[in-house]
Amino acid sequence: MGKKRIMVIFGTRPEAIKMVPVIKALEKAAEFEPIVVVTGQHRQMLDQVLETFDVSPAFDLNLMSDQQTLTKITVSVLSQMEQLLKTTNPDAVLVHGDTTTTLAASLAAFYQQIPVGHVEAGLRTWQKYDPFPEEINRQLTDAITQWYFAPTERSRQNLLKEHRDESRIYVTGNTAIDMLAHTVSDQWQLPMQNQIAPNAKIILLTMHRRENQGAPMKAAFSAINDFVLEHPEIEVVFPVHLSPNVQKAAHQAFDDNERVHLIAPLNVIDFHNLAARSWLIMTDSGGIQEEAPSLGKPVLVLRDTTERPEGVQAGTLKLVGTDAKTIQKWLTAFLNDQTVYEQMARAQNPYGDGQAAKRIVDVLCRELN
Ligand code: UD1
Ligand code: UDP
Repeated sequence: MGKKRIMVIFGTRPEAIKMVPVIKALEKAAEFEPIVVVTGQHRQMLDQVLETFDVSPAFDLNLMSDQQTLTKITVSVLSQMEQLLKTTNPDAVLVHGDTTTTLAASLAAFYQQIPVGHVEAGLRTWQKYDPFPEEINRQLTDAITQWYFAPTERSRQNLLKEHRDESRIYVTGNTAIDMLAHTVSDQWQLPMQNQIAPNAKIILLTMHRRENQGAPMKAAFSAINDFVLEHPEIEVVFPVHLSPNVQKAAHQAFDDNERVHLIAPLNVIDFHNLAARSWLIMTDSGGIQEEAPSLGKPVLVLRDTTERPEGVQAGTLKLVGTDAKTIQKWLTAFLNDQTVYEQMARAQNPYGDGQAAKRIVDVLCRELN
């Protein structure tokens, strides 16, 4: 029997980071031929991951445009994927997470009646606009999905609440943990180490979500800026997302503060190692919330909700939202109360044992052969 052809479709940085372990596991399995398709919803930030892990896509839809709208991304993926799916006719399609690429690629596969495996299925806030548009992207994707690769028992339960077929849900762990095994090392040095005082307490900051752009982002940045100005031992490293809205807000808030280092997006190896050496992480990112418990780093989550309650339960994540006073209060608590800090830093990783990709490939092997 010939090899089964699995099309792996993704388009943004976090999808790439969490799909690389799956692609590598498919490449190793004699039963499969992976076909990597990138939509190019992100360009530089996606290419950074592909280059780091030596992944060469078979097809690249190259769709990114400046200030792209959700409609434009969706229409472009749908129309380009129709032809590609018809000509390549894979046995199955794999998508990841909750981006617009995820939903549009799943829908395109559904129209061709090709089964979809959803990696990182079942995350929910149950809030339609929070995060926007990701909550609805993942719910709609899970209406199409054939095989649900749920990272945790909690995400399995979410799928069961939606009456998804129990026999098609597999708890695998999160592939983000698989990836960490390939990135963090003792030998690493931060490329911009000489710009940071040797004993500085480093806050690693990222913020990019659509629902945070505008007033929430401004409030959070202003709270962080004030805190840094008041505490000379603190330095912030902020690899700024390439979204023009985020770039503008970051430069407006921090250009006059020499202890806030605005840098280009880091490759994931540098980012994980910097995270591992930071004092504290502040972020609205989804993926970073999954990585931090494994790195033993407390995270102040700059959002009002999270689809990753496991990290809150484990004690690593504190949901602080974007209110300036609340952010200041928590930063001060961390700085002044070592026990608050230690409790969060000691938490256990709830996202699996780093074998998620292998489990996903094993399921596909059983289901397709
Ligand atoms: C997207 C996802 C979000 C995910 C995030 C990860 C959607 C709707 N949003 O949000 O779920 O958390 O990726 O980062 O799917 N840009 C570049 N170069 C890049 C990447 C982006 O210039 O490599 C700029 C472009 O001007 C682009 C803009 O950023 O138009 C926004 O990118 P987009 O993918 O629409 O939104 P993100 O905020 O990145
Ligand atoms: N990341 C990276 N370089 C950076 C910032 C983040 O490689 O400069 C990684 C991070 O470790 C995580 C992923 O990118 O794996 C998170 O991506 P992002 O925050 O863009 O998206 P989200 O997870 O919110 O969807």
